[in-house]
Amino acid sequence: MSILVTGGAGYIGSHTCIELLNAGYEIVVVDNFYNSKRESLNRIAELSGKEFTFYECDIRDAEGMDKIFKKEKIDAVIHFAGLKAVGESCQKPIEYYDNNIGGTLTLCDVMRNNGCKKIVFSSSATVYGSNNVSPLKETMQTGGTTNPYGTTKYMIEIILSDIYKSDNEWSICLLRYFNPIGAHKSGRIGEDPNGIPNNLMPFITQVAIGKRECLSVFGNDYDTPDGTGVRDYIHVVDLALGHVKALGRALSGNTLDVYNLGTGTGYSVLDVVNAFEKASGVKVNYKIVDRRPGDIATCYSDPTKAFEELGWKAERGIEEMCEDSWRWQSQNPNGY
Ligand code: NAD
Ligand code: UD1
Repeated sequence: MSILVTGGAGYIGSHTCIELLNAGYEIVVVDNFYNSKRESLNRIAELSGKEFTFYECDIRDAEGMDKIFKKEKIDAVIHFAGLKAVGESCQKPIEYYDNNIGGTLTLCDVMRNNGCKKIVFSSSATVYGSNNVSPLKETMQTGGTTNPYGTTKYMIEIILSDIYKSDNEWSICLLRYFNPIGAHKSGRIGEDPNGIPNNLMPFITQVAIGKRECLSVFGNDYDTPDGTGVRDYIHVVDLALGHVKALGRALSGNTLDVYNLGTGTGYSVLDVVNAFEKASGVKVNYKIVDRRPGDIATCYSDPTKAFEELGWKAERGIEEMCEDSWRWQSQNPNGY
């Protein structure tokens, strides 16, 4: 059973590769290293003790992708490759639509031409927009996204659903991630952002290691218990294990499914800062600043459906997420 992992050198992809190898799958990884380093592949091999095939290729390169499908016998695809920075997507909408939507269309076309019709896709809680009230359920309306990144995820969900409607030999699983943080227990792989981190946890760990002076907490006047934004943080290894379950389902039938991958619990920014300080023993300097445009007060999942249909639930708590994020950052102060 051979699984193609697009974007497998990235943060979530690398953790998922390890869990796929641990579960006995053979994997073929494709990445163009736009937002990752080759070293992550060495570490996947080191941690899993297994070998796998890698191609440096852009998923928009139809000819290159076709050659890979012709050479390898691919049974299913887990599709992580994409650009993911919300702010950057507002500056570079053409690049985001081209890479995320263009890339997915090319990938699906090559898959179909080679008779591979099973795909697990990295979607996001961002598709719920800002009008639904948490806990968010898969049956709630999607859309109303407020930035090109979010809109690419929303549009790709529609595109994949239309593909399924046109030909139900496809098996499609849309996974809506909440806020992945944490790292592999070994401290050997983790999130390695370029430049100034946009997301909360990498910013906290960089303040703790002394690379940044102070965390800006974006607003403390939200309608939440302590006034700061509430999110559903999920350990990246739990997320990776969710992909193994979703893949099992995609391989076993011809369905179109959508699942939230979250814990169902919301933590505020200050809850995360406090949990991190406790786990690391390091004080995190922070100051309260204005709200960040586009942010909402509260976002967390109802993860019941994934439990009922996939038998998956997140097992790792906020302490473990903080400990593992810190181990990765402190053992790799400059990333890979
Ligand atoms: P990441 O940037 O670490 O990984 C994405 C990988 O895809 C990178 O290795 C990058 O080099 C590669 N890539 C990008 N464009 C490519 C292309 N055209 N061809 C080949 N490779 C390409 O990001 P991540 O955090 O691991 O996220 C993985 C997926 O999950 C993305 O689609 C992202 O939008 C989605 N997602 C992430 C989060 C999050 O908080 N990290 C939340 C929701 C959804
Ligand atoms: C963001 C994206 C979302 C994307 C997700 C994962 C926005 C508006 N949303 O979600 O589309 O799917 O990342 O990549 O960017 N915070 C601070 N200080 C910081 C950073 C964050 O206070 O320096 C706060 C935020 O206001 C928020 C929480 O921490 O309340 C989490 O922020 P972040 O990690 O950026 O994730 P989201 O905004 O939930």
